[in-house]
Amino acid sequence: MTDTPSSEIAACSLVDVDYRYGDTIALRCVSLRVAPGESVALIGPSGAGKTTLLRVIAGLFQPSAGAVEVMGRSLAGLRPGRELAGLVGMMQQQLDLVLQLAVKHNVQAGYLGRWGTLRSLAALAFPIESTGARNAIRRVGLEDRIATRVGRLSGGEQQRVALARLLVQDPDLVLADEPVSALDPALADDLLALLRDLVSDRPGERPGESMAPRALIASVHQPELALRHFDRIIAMRSGQIAFDKPADDVTEKDLDLVYSLVARAPTPEPAAAGQ
Ligand SMILES: Nc1ncnc2c1ncn2[C@@H]1O[C@H](COP(=O)(O)OP(=O)(O)OP(=O)(O)O)[C@@H](O)[C@H]1O
Ligand SMILES: [Mg+2]
Repeated sequence: MTDTPSSEIAACSLVDVDYRYGDTIALRCVSLRVAPGESVALIGPSGAGKTTLLRVIAGLFQPSAGAVEVMGRSLAGLRPGRELAGLVGMMQQQLDLVLQLAVKHNVQAGYLGRWGTLRSLAALAFPIESTGARNAIRRVGLEDRIATRVGRLSGGEQQRVALARLLVQDPDLVLADEPVSALDPALADDLLALLRDLVSDRPGERPGESMAPRALIASVHQPELALRHFDRIIAMRSGQIAFDKPADDVTEKDLDLVYSLVARAPTPEPAAAGQ
């Protein structure tokens, strides 16, 4: 377990969280704490509960039991939209980009939480230029595609548009569900390195201003990529945390245990009485 001073506000903290889809227990008694500045990879076999866990942390799913806090705030009491968008942002597996719109308009959608609906809709209809969006597009290396329709970009370029949109949203906690699953190995490496850099480098709006460091939690299917790019690895299996340790301490044996055991997907709850 990575040490974090107990007095420091956690980027996110979960205590005894369960999540059920009907009879299926997808998360069972999950507790974890991630500090600002940490980068965490969620690994584990298909069906282990990674996406469900990310969605619970993002406030998209209400846990069936237990408590979730982001930056010391209980998600249960937060209104979706403006408040939540400043705290936590998620890059979903389906990137939710508008393929018919240009890169700059998709990136500006990251302001939705902060601008409110009217101004954001106006920005989609009229060519409002924002320095923040332009900077984000430059940081992901797509400056020359700023006016290109997203539908004309490659998969890797679309991933970078989604990243730029997250930068504009500027949440304290960045979540990413399989951000590199659709990419070839070289591109996957590049994108994870970019994600790490963008998350750790958080300049203030004015020179000399320092922002609280962001934290990153991303699910990653390939353990070798997780070990190479993240400080800490949380392995899920059957809806529970199988191990949680610094990437440097993860052994082949740890990975074998997570990926080769029979019990992969969570099972429905056993019928009450009896063995
Ligand atoms: N909408 C749903 N209804 C019922 N069960 C679901 C639903 N979504 C997921 N599950 C079940 O919950 C468990 C966890 O699913 P989840 O999608 O979180 O796994 P995952 O680790 O993200 O898997 P993958 O690596 O394949 O993306 C699985 O057993 C899955 O079948
Ligand atoms: Mg998943």
